Amino acid sequence: MSGEFERVQAAAAYVKTRISEAPDIAITLGSGLGGFASRVEQAAVVPYGEIPGWPPAGVVGHAGRLVAGRVRGRRVVVLSGRSHFYEGHPMATVVFGTRVVASLGARTLILTNAAGGINTSFSQGGLMVIDDHLNLMGTNPLVGPNDDRFGPRFPDMSEVYSRRLRIVADRAAERIGLALSHGVYVGLHGPSYETPAEIRYLRSIGGDAVGMSTVAEAIAARHMGVEVLGISCITNMAAGVLPAPLDHSEVMATGQRVRGAFIALIEEIVAAA
Ligand code: HPA
Repeated sequence: MSGEFERVQAAAAYVKTRISEAPDIAITLGSGLGGFASRVEQAAVVPYGEIPGWPPAGVVGHAGRLVAGRVRGRRVVVLSGRSHFYEGHPMATVVFGTRVVASLGARTLILTNAAGGINTSFSQGGLMVIDDHLNLMGTNPLVGPNDDRFGPRFPDMSEVYSRRLRIVADRAAERIGLALSHGVYVGLHGPSYETPAEIRYLRSIGGDAVGMSTVAEAIAARHMGVEVLGISCITNMAAGVLPAPLDHSEVMATGQRVRGAFIALIEEIVAAA
């Protein structure tokens, strides 16, 4: 056995000593979307570096801390900062935080990310509910010996993103007067952005948005029986859609620009999830 289960349990046991109540809902924040963490009331903040076994989060725009508390009366745990496969981490590291929050008791996971818009009806700054994904990361977080304590060897992936939660998201958006699109998220290894030819290919196989996260975490969460919702912020149109080159600072700037709408949506979803 890999010992991964024990590492996750040890991290969860430590976090439990730092937070006052078990969370129902976990929320992972994507690049530029960290502002939501400030909305947590009665917040217990645990920097990742203090949690045994927690991988360091490196990228600009990722704070690297776990924040537990209440949002709209719901018990939440927010992961502000995640590990990415493109940083060179093994998949077990990429999904470590997901497994810890599931082990803390969260039965719902809201995964958010910054993504490039492949679907030409999308526009920069729009929000997309992930209906399904294409795992093109080249591997899978469940590769290797299966630990049945996490979940089954061959977990079903026919509804990774909960139909129920997608409806909750639509109703939440309606209540606050926000337009939401839906689509298929393509998860790639990165870290280079895609070529225009790759984007044409991804469009032809059914992709609507593209990014470098979320897919592995969603698979690991489903493996553990957690209900998943995914929300992408279309921070830029994907390569070749518009004449301009892609730039990480644009991704961050768009995240900042839609911050208010994004926070309002996640709060409204949390209240109803
Ligand atoms: N491609 C991949 N990942 C991304 C993009 C993109 O265009 N924008 C934000 N994350």
